[in-house]
Amino acid sequence: MVKRIGVLTSGGDAPGMNACIRAIVRSAAHYGIEVTGIRRGYAGLLEGDAIPLDPRKVTHILERGGTFLETSRCEEMKTPEGIRKAVAMMHRMELEGLITIGGDGTFRGATELSKAGGFQVIGVPGTIDNDVYGTDFTIGFDTAVNTALEATDKIRDTAESHNRLFFVEVMGRNRGFIALAVGIAAGADEILLPETETDLKALAESLKRCYRNGKRSAIVIVAEGDVPGGARAIAERMQGLIDVEYRVVSLGHVQRGGSPTARDRILASELGTAAVDAIAEGKSGYMVGMIASEIALTPLSDTWTKTKELDARLLKMLRILAV
Ligand code: F6P
Repeated sequence: MVKRIGVLTSGGDAPGMNACIRAIVRSAAHYGIEVTGIRRGYAGLLEGDAIPLDPRKVTHILERGGTFLETSRCEEMKTPEGIRKAVAMMHRMELEGLITIGGDGTFRGATELSKAGGFQVIGVPGTIDNDVYGTDFTIGFDTAVNTALEATDKIRDTAESHNRLFFVEVMGRNRGFIALAVGIAAGADEILLPETETDLKALAESLKRCYRNGKRSAIVIVAEGDVPGGARAIAERMQGLIDVEYRVVSLGHVQRGGSPTARDRILASELGTAAVDAIAEGKSGYMVGMIASEIALTPLSDTWTKTKELDARLLKMLRILAV
């Protein structure tokens, strides 16, 4: 059994990362494993910026958004020299294992670290984008969807009052998981995703049909990665195709913050615990995910080389329901 492991959060912060750190520290204590918290993701690992953690140091972080360990997007970790430095620092800090919480960028680095050998590496999917292969849901996705949904419901109130068309841009980088979930939950009239071709004439026709059917307002959810320039660019290109008053709202980083939902806290607790179990069982080079409500281990390299598909059934349903 390993004596000491490190934990870090990397990439964009996601609500539930703190709940996951808590689960890791307390599960590790259950096995008698010490945990070192590495600050600011891989950037902190390269500098040896770390603090010892114990069950009391993670008290009441379960309900807090963000990540108390802080995070970064570290360019140096994309280079062989960065990986060498990280491996050397792992040895200097006497860490026999590392749990990385993040998204695909985090797992690229984790894959290289696990290949370097000498210590165990396990990943936990934490990103609002839900774009990681090997898990049905990532930590933070549910909270981000609920945050965007609450905002979109409010936009609907004003849209209905003024008979306006709103283009609401949500995050998701180059994938449409957040947009699809918000679109369904908010009863959006149309949705634009990077995974499907965007045909503005067809969009105009669809919106005209909404108005002909007696709708007073319309909401189009736009995934930020749909076209360069996002919702603003779409709205400008729609001028001349449809003659209604419109407004554009980009929800932005508000989607990354806030206290995690119960669903995210539970997922974070389960995956954090599973990550420590995997370490205790001597495993390395895997991400722990949740597939069909079961813990699933996926090789780290698969998590960013394979593509998680969007559920075409949900997209079809959204369009049927948006009459
Ligand atoms: O990956 C999470 C995410 O919020 C994406 O949805 C978004 O495209 C990106 O991060 C924004 O990154 P930054 O906070 O570096 O601007």
